[in-house]
Amino acid sequence: MKRIERPTPVNEEIKLNPMRTIMSKTDAKGIIEYANDYFMEISGYKEWELMGQPHNVIRHPDMPKSIFKILWDRINQGMPTYALVKNLAKDGRYYWVIAYFIPVSKEGKIINHYAKRKAIPDEIKDEITSLYNMLLELEKTGGMEAAEAYFLSYLEEQKMSYDEFIFDTMRLSEKELKKYMDAQITDESLGLDMSAEEAIKNSVKKKRRFFW
Ligand SMILES: Cc1cc2nc3c(=O)[nH]c(=O)nc-3n(C[C@H](O)[C@H](O)[C@H](O)COP(=O)(O)O)c2cc1C
Repeated sequence: MKRIERPTPVNEEIKLNPMRTIMSKTDAKGIIEYANDYFMEISGYKEWELMGQPHNVIRHPDMPKSIFKILWDRINQGMPTYALVKNLAKDGRYYWVIAYFIPVSKEGKIINHYAKRKAIPDEIKDEITSLYNMLLELEKTGGMEAAEAYFLSYLEEQKMSYDEFIFDTMRLSEKELKKYMDAQITDESLGLDMSAEEAIKNSVKKKRRFFW
């Protein structure tokens, strides 16, 4: 299969509808087997371009390799994992997501990975950009091991697990984040003018239903 040529990044963001979910499925090695309509709409790739490609077709050069190393170490052990990811669309623009990766095993062997992704608030993009820039710099000077070691020692210093780092950055509990990841509305146009902050607030609010 011919590898898709990487676009040149342009510094322009694609705004996501925070009520929609970008989904994909890969084989155990990260080769794309499925992408939903919103994936194709946002990335700009057609289904036939994506199928059979390694998932790094949408890897943005601003993403530290050490973050993907941590991701793969975890999902290869069968651990569902969140990550904050800047992705590269076909036209070179970028879009930020919180992604949840779910490994699927059969008879003790991982056979697929699923990923679902949603929009994140701008404030969080700025925060995570500072951390990622630091990791990128370390990768340039000391290699990926140096960047990974820095990140892991940062977590240790903060007395945080990787998961807690994600919840802390998103300012949500695990349960709240799960609610946001699962939130959907039937009328998609409703989410168009909504910020990710508003969508998060709406989805974590407990819905009270009264039956008379
Ligand atoms: C189910 C699944 C979804 C993925 N989604 C993304 C994604 O949206 N963006 C991305 O850059 N990498 C994604 N990856 C990770 C890529 O496979 C890859 O590790 C990453 O882009 C870094 O590229 P590299 O491995 O060539 O360094 C995903 C992996 C899996 C298993």
